Amino acid sequence: MASIAVCPGSFDPITYGHLDIIKRASKVFDQIHVVLLNNSSKNPLFSVDERISLISEVTREFPNVKVDSFQGLLVDYAKGVGASAIIRGLRAVSDFEYEMQITSMNRVLNEEIETFFMMTNNQFSFLSSSIVKEVAKYGGDISELVPEAVQKALSGKFSLQQ
Ligand code: PNS
Repeated sequence: MASIAVCPGSFDPITYGHLDIIKRASKVFDQIHVVLLNNSSKNPLFSVDERISLISEVTREFPNVKVDSFQGLLVDYAKGVGASAIIRGLRAVSDFEYEMQITSMNRVLNEEIETFFMMTNNQFSFLSSSIVKEVAKYGGDISELVPEAVQKALSGKFSLQQ
């Protein structure tokens, strides 16, 4: 039976930190579903379609990675695609409390689906989508933080806003 895992997130936008986790997870599992959860009360910079298109572009080189969006509970999505695992990246101790909370909740909702944590590569331990947006907004260099397609998309957003 194929091992299927889900890499969930908001991806607003996808960064090299996300990509590092997706790439490493894709070597361990037969199939990875990168899923954009679309029920957040957050006010995203990019639309769902824009985020999906960026994720698809930058993960195109990984043949066992599929990209999707979903509105609802993560465990319901995971069950729907036959995934037995959820992958989350951990950057620092500060991530731990939040991750423990959502992992425990997901286990209550569906104990068949196991959450696995991967330590983010050291070079990305400070990186977040919010930080990237902040730096891009004020014209800082983000070339080490996000792929070129994302850099272009961010430039487009912020030049339109100015
Ligand atoms: O990239 P993020 O914002 O850290 O991802 C958080 C995400 C999308 C994984 C989390 O908010 C989530 O799983 N949302 C779906 C709703 C859900 O299943 N909630 C129950 C567990 S708290």
